[in-house]
Amino acid sequence: MIRLFAGIALPGEHRQHLTRMQSGLKNARWVAPENLHITLRFIGEVDEDIAQHLCVSLGGITSQPFDLTLKDVGTFGHSPHSVWAGVEDTPCGALSCLQSRVESVLVRVGQQPERRKFSPHVTLARFRKSDHQNRLGAYLQHHNGFVLPPFTVSGFTLFESHLSHHGAHYEPLAEFDFKDPTNPEGQPYR
Ligand code: 2AM
Repeated sequence: MIRLFAGIALPGEHRQHLTRMQSGLKNARWVAPENLHITLRFIGEVDEDIAQHLCVSLGGITSQPFDLTLKDVGTFGHSPHSVWAGVEDTPCGALSCLQSRVESVLVRVGQQPERRKFSPHVTLARFRKSDHQNRLGAYLQHHNGFVLPPFTVSGFTLFESHLSHHGAHYEPLAEFDFKDPTNPEGQPYR
């Protein structure tokens, strides 16, 4: 079985900027710079043969390239369990549209539908405990309003998530480039 998710990798300079925002919170487990990404769809554990099938199906997704902006910070959870950087979609909702296409393909090939609303973000940190409230307020106040130059999304990636005691490692298994008409099935799996 392998643990998969579809996501959007971030340009190096955007990851560098986000990394500079990763301090000042007690009990935070900061996401490693190379792991910073936007999740389109968490898939979970699947058999290798299903993964290959998913890969071919995801390769059929088309889109025009579009620009995204990373801005603002926020948290998930009533007693917050993670802090994230926000993702501003295009005015016509190109990111949501891509996410819907990914969702449709996955459901068509037998995955359970995702019930949670798509809420695009880049997770910066997760918390072990929730005794961070004061610092979290100051952190959010300090970083809210940050905005990075837009970057162009010209494809998406199928990642394998390797979990270990040292933390997660996300390995790109296949990259699907919107602009590569010669490769409509995506790149070969592994
Ligand atoms: P998160 O950043 O909001 O935590 C790989 O695990 C990616 O899939 C993470 O970015 C994580 O989102 C996302 N994800 C969504 N649902 C998940 C789940 N049930 N378990 C693990 N990761 C999940």
